Amino acid sequence: MNVLGIETSCDECSCAVVRDGNEILSNVIATQIELHKPYQGVVPELASRLHTEWISQVVTAAIMQAGLKNSDIDAVAVTNRPGLLGSLLVGVNFAKAFAAALDIPVIGIDHIRAHLYASQIENPLEYPYLGVLVSGGHTVICKVNGYDDVDVLGTTIDDAIGEAFDKVAKFYDLGYPGGVVIDRLSKSGDDMAFLFPGPTLDRGEHPYDMSYSGLKTGVINQLDKFRNGNAEKTKENIAASFQRAAVGILMKRVKLALKDTGLRRVSAGGGVAANSLLRSELKELEKGGCTVTFPSLKLCTDNGAMIAGLGYRYLKDGFRDDDYLNATARVQAFKKSYP
Ligand code: KG4
Ligand code: ZN
Repeated sequence: MNVLGIETSCDECSCAVVRDGNEILSNVIATQIELHKPYQGVVPELASRLHTEWISQVVTAAIMQAGLKNSDIDAVAVTNRPGLLGSLLVGVNFAKAFAAALDIPVIGIDHIRAHLYASQIENPLEYPYLGVLVSGGHTVICKVNGYDDVDVLGTTIDDAIGEAFDKVAKFYDLGYPGGVVIDRLSKSGDDMAFLFPGPTLDRGEHPYDMSYSGLKTGVINQLDKFRNGNAEKTKENIAASFQRAAVGILMKRVKLALKDTGLRRVSAGGGVAANSLLRSELKELEKGGCTVTFPSLKLCTDNGAMIAGLGYRYLKDGFRDDDYLNATARVQAFKKSYP
């Protein structure tokens, strides 16, 4: 089954063709980064306008690169939640029109679940596993029981981890998008130049919850308070110290969740799963007997292949949407449960 996956929830206009859920025939990602760069952040109105201009060509390119014709597509999967509403609507309406024209099924896909599923396309892991979803909008530690069955163990109570990377980079004018630049600068910085503490959350029955707004504020407004001796205030040192703290906050909860749940498999997804420090710290868990997988870098950030991959699973199990498929900016409620 050839599934066309469409992703337009934020600033990537992406379309992929995936065969039988794991053979990526094409994955075209038209990024709007350069156009949002002057604003150092995504401008929603600009994003939806660009999706409208680009979507038709991106879909055509994906089908051509797959070596197929429109009539070879068996179904369409499209991100319909959560994200920027105007941007989501462009993808959803295109998907519905495309499916109607070819008389094939269409299915709306949850962006968060797709990030959690991305590693399953290339490196399938047996369920259940501990899922670590880290992106610009979300930070979730969860028990993934199946492609459609996720128990949330902990989330950020304020900023997402990727948002903290982006805001710190914006404040220090490091470049855009922030996460990638901080990752790069950190390689030549001293990560002990500033000793930023993690949050001391007294969350009782919510021990896996995280907070990133305190760290962000500390790095931006209270740099001297956390300066280690006479450490130099270079971009590299600030980036490396921030990155160590940000990844540390997450890893502490990941380790606790692994211990409490007894899970021995871990997978990460989302843009921040491309971070080199996070990848190496998660890989370290293998020394303790865990199996750890990530998506390749291209499948970490927003892409159509993860939408097509997850879409295939739903379609194969008989799920379909109809003409009333709509977009929603909101996060669909996940089960909250604690071991
Ligand atoms: O998954 P994604 O493309 O979009 C959302 O669903 O949010 O994630 C984008 C986020 C941004 O905050 C970006 O700065 C961050 O992922 N990011 C990184 C890296 N690459 C992207 N953060 C840290 N290190 C990276 N290498
Ligand atoms: Zn995303």
